[in-house]
Amino acid sequence: LTAPERIRVELGSRSYYVWIGAKLLETAGERIGAILPGRKAAIVTDTNVADLHLPALRTALRGAGVQTTEIIVPAGESSKSFSALQSVVEAILAARLERGDFVVALGGGVIGDLAGFAAAITRRGMRFVQVPTTLLAQVDSSVGGKTGINAPQGKNLVGAFHQPVLVLADTGTLDTLPKREFAAGYAEIAKYGLLADAAFFAWLETNRAEIFAGGAARVRAIAEGCQGKARIVAADERETGERALLNLGHTFGHALEAACGYEAARLVHGEAVSIGIVLAHDFSVAEGLAPPADAERVRHHMTAAGLPVRIAEIPGPPIPAEEIMRHIAQDKKVVRGRLTFILTRGIGSAFIADDVAPEKVEAFLRRQLAA
Ligand SMILES: NC(=O)c1ccc[n+]([C@@H]2O[C@H](COP(=O)([O-])OP(=O)(O)OC[C@H]3O[C@@H](n4cnc5c(N)ncnc54)[C@H](O)[C@@H]3O)[C@@H](O)[C@H]2O)c1
Ligand SMILES: [Zn+2]
Repeated sequence: LTAPERIRVELGSRSYYVWIGAKLLETAGERIGAILPGRKAAIVTDTNVADLHLPALRTALRGAGVQTTEIIVPAGESSKSFSALQSVVEAILAARLERGDFVVALGGGVIGDLAGFAAAITRRGMRFVQVPTTLLAQVDSSVGGKTGINAPQGKNLVGAFHQPVLVLADTGTLDTLPKREFAAGYAEIAKYGLLADAAFFAWLETNRAEIFAGGAARVRAIAEGCQGKARIVAADERETGERALLNLGHTFGHALEAACGYEAARLVHGEAVSIGIVLAHDFSVAEGLAPPADAERVRHHMTAAGLPVRIAEIPGPPIPAEEIMRHIAQDKKVVRGRLTFILTRGIGSAFIADDVAPEKVEAFLRRQLAA
């Protein structure tokens, strides 16, 4: 067994460590006990993860003398709701947890966002630990402190910045993750290379099969991804500038998810990001910013990872360009008629373009859909 990797998210007095490796659930009691000794914990998880991974965490925490309460919500995006938030907050209070006690989020991004937000607002802020169990959560959502729920008006519209005190990413939990969810999380790993680290993307091209198979390459890929996110979050915690780079592929991606009504059967987030990343590269090529060969490499890599790369691959009724444009206009604030996109000068060289003409994007989408 290789030793776990440890990454520090540098945020002054709110700095914390992300641990990545196998068997971290089993040793969670020691790592949590070291920073939160003698406390009570509320473990928030979902119905799928409770069956698979809750027993190991429960045993570890109790073994370290931590009293635990378990709060289990239905699996799926619908748990990022006001009603689920209410039930989690009330369960924390009913268990008589005090302000110095802590919340543990055991699950994917849905659980991390929900439990993190509950921790942010209960008793004006409780500490929380992220124990992410999806690849997406391990490389992306568990790091950076964005927490929240959805509103009828849209996704992630209600929330708070609330950093965890510790992140334990047990890569062994990914062995039970459906292949489709694993691939979706992989799109976010590739994103870090495409943003700012061409050498990492080249490493992914060589090691993709090993990463999917598990073992040391998987741990390394997750650690590199977390490091990429940690660096950007440390530089711009509240997304006033550079953190927006993490949205590479997300302007197109969010619009496609919205056009699918967030139906997981049609498109999950990472798949939308994969198509969005390819579109961002193709658009950059069309604008004369990036070499066509780079866009081709990206398309090839995502396809090899089992991810969709074209809008037309999305199952269900075809999505017209006007509909995508409507969602883009809602998602990103339009400033004086111009859109903000993350574009690229080539692999590893993404940049924030805040002056993109919507007509150009729409014409590009029409060409894509006609091809
Ligand atoms: N806070 C952030 O910075 C941030 C960043 C990206 C995404 N997000 C949010 O994350 C959410 C998506 O996260 P997700 O993709 O992890 O979805 P998810 O939490 O719904 O998990 C996906 C599915 O996998 C199941 N699952 C989780 N772990 C498992 C395991 N080890 N084995 C088997 N099944 C398992 C879950 O029960 C669920 O059915 C979205 O709501 C998105 O808005 C937040
Ligand atoms: Zn994402």
